[in-house]
Amino acid sequence: AFNLRHRNFLKELDFTPKEFNHLLDLAADLKAAKYAGIEQKRLVGKNIALIFEKTSTRTRCAFEVAAYDQGAGVTYLDPGGSQIGHKESMKDTARVLGRMYDGIEYRGSKQEYVEELGRYAGVPVWNGLTDEWHPTQMLADMLTMREHSDKPLHRVSFAYLGDARNNMGNSLLITAAMLGMDVRMVAPRELWNHPEIVDKAKEIAVGTGATITHTTDVAEGVKGVDFLYTDVWVSMGEPKEVWDTRIAQLKAYQVNMDVVKATGNPKVKFMHCLPAFHDRNTAVGRDIFDKTGMEALEVTDEVFESEFSIVFDEAENRLHTIKAVMVATLGD
Ligand code: CP
Ligand code: NVA
Repeated sequence: AFNLRHRNFLKELDFTPKEFNHLLDLAADLKAAKYAGIEQKRLVGKNIALIFEKTSTRTRCAFEVAAYDQGAGVTYLDPGGSQIGHKESMKDTARVLGRMYDGIEYRGSKQEYVEELGRYAGVPVWNGLTDEWHPTQMLADMLTMREHSDKPLHRVSFAYLGDARNNMGNSLLITAAMLGMDVRMVAPRELWNHPEIVDKAKEIAVGTGATITHTTDVAEGVKGVDFLYTDVWVSMGEPKEVWDTRIAQLKAYQVNMDVVKATGNPKVKFMHCLPAFHDRNTAVGRDIFDKTGMEALEVTDEVFESEFSIVFDEAENRLHTIKAVMVATLGD
């Protein structure tokens, strides 16, 4: 019933809600097959280019392992390791790689770069994160919510605390709207999603029954939710001068045990796309912790390491969902 062959995945709205749910079903099937040791290779003989103009752990490894599991080969181009953007335009790069590869993943800054790649490559292009969207993360997050819920996604509620103007804020809002969820964006007003994105989400919500809330009030925003979600306060590509302002803006939106309790839901789960500043074990984190005297930023270590936290289930699901995207758009 679903044929997603040759399709790009540049943002969530490239797929209909039904197609998005189909990818979740496929990911669940692929995950079960891998666990059972009966995975069928559907990408044998395919070659995949992985372009990373920003660093990555999860996305890169998920694409590589998914490709190997399915019998495909990969080429990894690291930040700075290609001619893209320096010596060669995206349009030319797209036409060159399209002659050699069957599919291309791209992580970079502006959304228009991945759109340009998708327009000219002639093979499926997948967005591995831009400043605006993180669509493959959404598949993993929704699969994870599905696995940790006893109700369908359209009856699930979650609160996102943090920078709602970044890629995660945009992607979570639009995905929730598409899937008919109850989403609360909890942040200071100046970090709420841009008005065009809010309008888009509200327009989608009319058809799906989603509930969209923006609030500055943590207690009100998190009340009764099934999931708490947060992300880093400063994203890749932002100047480090932003840290001081962001810490001041978001300090009150840290996910700590008080926030967990404020949900009133003893079974609430905590999610984070990772990497997370929950302790001092990162170089960037250490500098900031030393400067501010804070022991954690967007989430405390206590919550991150608690029984509420499902961040590693979420990270694992990057593999199964990215595999689903490749199989659906490229598989025979
Ligand atoms: N969540 C995520 O995209 O992680 P990486 O930056 O490690 O790929
Ligand atoms: N907002 C973060 C997400 C990382 C997966 C960033 O863009 O750095």
